[in-house]
Amino acid sequence: MSAPAALGGVLAWLQQMLRPATGLPFPAVAHGTIALGTDAGIGSEAFQLDVTVDGVTIVGGDAAGVFYGCQALLQLLPPAIYRRAAVAGVSWTVPVCRVDDAPRFAWRGAMLDVARHFLPKHDVLRFLDLMAAHRLNTLHWHLTDDQGWRLEIKRYPRLTEIGAWRRESQVGAARDAPGDGRPHGGFYTQDDVREIVAYAAERFITVVPEIESPGHVQAALAAYPELGVTRQPQEVWTRWGISSNVLDISSSTVDFFRNVLDEVLELFPSRWIGVGGDECPQDQWRADPLIGERLAGLGLTSVEELPSWFVRRLDDHLTAAGRRVFGWDEILEGDLAPGTTVASWRGMAGAVAAARRGYDVVACPDDLVYLDYRQSESPEEPIPVAIPLTVRDVYAFDPVPPSLTAAEARHVLGGQANIWTEHADSPRTIDYLVFPRLCAVAEALWSTADRDFDNFWNRLQTHLARLDALGVEYRRSDGPQPWQRRPGVPGRPDTREQRAAHIARLVANIQV
Ligand code: ACM
Repeated sequence: MSAPAALGGVLAWLQQMLRPATGLPFPAVAHGTIALGTDAGIGSEAFQLDVTVDGVTIVGGDAAGVFYGCQALLQLLPPAIYRRAAVAGVSWTVPVCRVDDAPRFAWRGAMLDVARHFLPKHDVLRFLDLMAAHRLNTLHWHLTDDQGWRLEIKRYPRLTEIGAWRRESQVGAARDAPGDGRPHGGFYTQDDVREIVAYAAERFITVVPEIESPGHVQAALAAYPELGVTRQPQEVWTRWGISSNVLDISSSTVDFFRNVLDEVLELFPSRWIGVGGDECPQDQWRADPLIGERLAGLGLTSVEELPSWFVRRLDDHLTAAGRRVFGWDEILEGDLAPGTTVASWRGMAGAVAAARRGYDVVACPDDLVYLDYRQSESPEEPIPVAIPLTVRDVYAFDPVPPSLTAAEARHVLGGQANIWTEHADSPRTIDYLVFPRLCAVAEALWSTADRDFDNFWNRLQTHLARLDALGVEYRRSDGPQPWQRRPGVPGRPDTREQRAAHIARLVANIQV
């Protein structure tokens, strides 16, 4: 195997992928049978893979392109290549071929919610490997919420001493669901985060951290009640849904979150930093006379403008540090700073509005790419929530709303699947929810718009053999295995019509 020094990391990674199953040494030599190189003329993340009877050449537009060419090489080998120890009786051959490939979108992401259920570091690293195998390049890491704060912040240790643990968790999605009586918790130390970010970077994945504000903060309020409107002691929330406990609107809460973000900036080199902004109940603000008095002084006319006001205060801080704010589409309900990037989750209304107003967009419409949603109409789906999203439904995802002009469409950076984990309390359940639907999302983000589902479905059957070799417990097309079911635990299914009507009400405030 050979590569210029600048590709030493990719070469080492490929050696590590090829050696275990084949049992072959793949030494680095001057002129290898597998040769890696770059040619800036090819374009960022693009590659050319040439397999001849003499060997394999992979040329990328940059190191990321070479990496994706290597991933393509693994896909051309027998699926057993993904096993971690020598496999006997396999002929390790690759068909003679030429592949010229490049991604359609620069943001090919997955959002992982580790707040509702903590995912141990080991499983985050495994998830990054699975993302990379699917040529996804952005992990939107949802680190804080009402039910848990998962990131060590040195200046405010109670965020994880108190905020990373909850007494119990609601079982299922029914409004009157009981608690399970079992404590849940966990957090990542700053050393863990540095390791995860570096591991991701070696796989050309950017980790975009998200610190929620000014709603979805009850875990922070449990640690520091003075941040809340009521200042009352709270526990880390044990229910699912949206807590009504939100941040006070004051310079001290803004300062607190700016200080948190300063540590976040040290840990995460990402250009984008997530600040939340979604689903912020305004009842406590309305009920508080002091907040009513402060509004005019802040130049605002109603409490509805407060979430985007808060996000703008963080934006000033992040922009000054050379970063860009990444927030959910509710922030379009107020004024935004130029350079803000909007995650459109309530369907595509936010994508259309943001692109027309000149903001960059990451599309993640709930009715296509929310991978916590049930996978079929079958009552055997575990804790079935929202609408059914089959592999075919998800494959139809296109991040670019058809109503945009070509100039507006350039604001669409790409898209991502969102993996919320209220009802995914283990890596096994995440596997079941995510695969193979994430394979469909990955292809929708990489490939051209003229894709054919039947063709994908046929290729997916081969790909499932790769997932088997990788040890991924994906959902089989005939439904959940007995151990993947949750008999007796109610979900909260919707029809498409109910969901569409609900989303239409939610986005009514967005100005196009
Ligand atoms: C969201 O699903 N609340 C972004």
